[in-house]
Amino acid sequence: MELPFAESYKIKMVETLRRSSREEREKWLKDSCYNLFKLRSEYVYIDLLTDSGTGAMSDKQWSAMMVGDESYAGASSYHLMKDTIKKLFGFADFLPTHQGRAAENVLFTVLVKPENIIPGNSHFDTTKGHIEFRKAHAVDCTIDEAFNPTLNHPFKGNINLNKLEKVLKENPIEKIPFIIVTLTCNSSGGQPVSLQNLKDVHMLARKYGTRVLFDSARFAENAYFIKTREKGYENKTIREIVLEMFSYADMMTMSSKKDAIVNIGGFIAMRDHDLFQQASVYNILFEGYITYGGMAGRDMSALSQGLMEATEFDYLETRVKQVAYLGEKLKNYGVPVLEPFGGHAIFIDAKKFLPTIPKEEFIAQTLAIEIYLEGGVRAVEIGTLLADRDPETRENRFPELEMVRLAIPRRVYTNNHMDYVAVTVANVYQYRNTFKNGFKIIREAPILRHFTVELDKIC
Ligand code: F0G
Repeated sequence: MELPFAESYKIKMVETLRRSSREEREKWLKDSCYNLFKLRSEYVYIDLLTDSGTGAMSDKQWSAMMVGDESYAGASSYHLMKDTIKKLFGFADFLPTHQGRAAENVLFTVLVKPENIIPGNSHFDTTKGHIEFRKAHAVDCTIDEAFNPTLNHPFKGNINLNKLEKVLKENPIEKIPFIIVTLTCNSSGGQPVSLQNLKDVHMLARKYGTRVLFDSARFAENAYFIKTREKGYENKTIREIVLEMFSYADMMTMSSKKDAIVNIGGFIAMRDHDLFQQASVYNILFEGYITYGGMAGRDMSALSQGLMEATEFDYLETRVKQVAYLGEKLKNYGVPVLEPFGGHAIFIDAKKFLPTIPKEEFIAQTLAIEIYLEGGVRAVEIGTLLADRDPETRENRFPELEMVRLAIPRRVYTNNHMDYVAVTVANVYQYRNTFKNGFKIIREAPILRHFTVELDKIC
């Protein structure tokens, strides 16, 4: 017999999970104003809210924490991180930050001015938030194929070069400080960008005289997809692919809570030393001195080790295969899921799942709430709540895709947990026709509303 696939690690420490009853969950959810972000974590059995900062660190990462250097300036942990970033991405200058959005805040304070235009592939919400907060505009140039949830395209994170060139041609280039490429593209389903596309975007940036920024939170999963899907890369190592990917970027922002497998941390890295010096001022102002930027020395040491582990093929294979395992299960139960499966999460097509709920009643949120009630599984809405209001008209923005994301923390759950999640969702799918109404907003914040929004049932 052919030997089956199995995880590339074993478990050394465990955490107890508690199951609850549907009655308990109904009460907790009402008390949380039907916002899953407001639930206490002990009210959740399997937490697929996010893969951000929720991964399990390795024994080597924990031991790196013990030898972290907590010096205010020039700590050896900082130099370890600097060397790791140079080795993996090729950038000599970097600034640590406490997480990804802090990296955006520091860098965009230097680069983004009112009325600027930032083209990219389905900007992540904090990225878009930091652009719009500065009265600039994010223009989505993702390929059209990405908006067809069942179309099988290997690189649905790709940028449509015609759309991008149109933006570059029709606007004064001084208004376009950079193009942003998100690897993998979270907002369109954890979908990868091909190396060819990265190269083409770089060429267009050079042709028109602007720069390229990679939003790199899931860069290693992106590299795995390049190795397994793009011709010519099958025999390259993940690290060789990563180095080539980043040769087409001028700078990167990183949320280390994803593909550096740490619970907190981030950074900015760049080629331009002048830009580094300008950004250093804001790093000191917002984050901390340039050799720690909101991170403890031990966190920088664990992060450096995490970056090395995340760029090992065996780790990535285990990771991406677990996500696909859940995707296959759901597909077999008839649940409409986005395909191909993403690198960090399975996305359920909520419009197809609940066709009778009007879009004004938050289709994907209605589904995420029901998944929690059915099995204590916490997912997240990637739909109208997340898309927020248009900053000028204040009208709701209705995205083409209404999705529920089941994001899988790194090295945390077993495939038995995935089986449980799949049956939870399949049960809801069985009784989907009993759904009549969705939800209405009672209170919302002016920006990034989904984190704190309060909802009530429409009866
Ligand atoms: N960019 C991408 C592509 C992200 O997915 C995130 C965070 C960020 C930037 C911001 O990083 O959280 O460290 O400040 N995504 C999380 C998620 C929150 O659940 O997908 P952060």
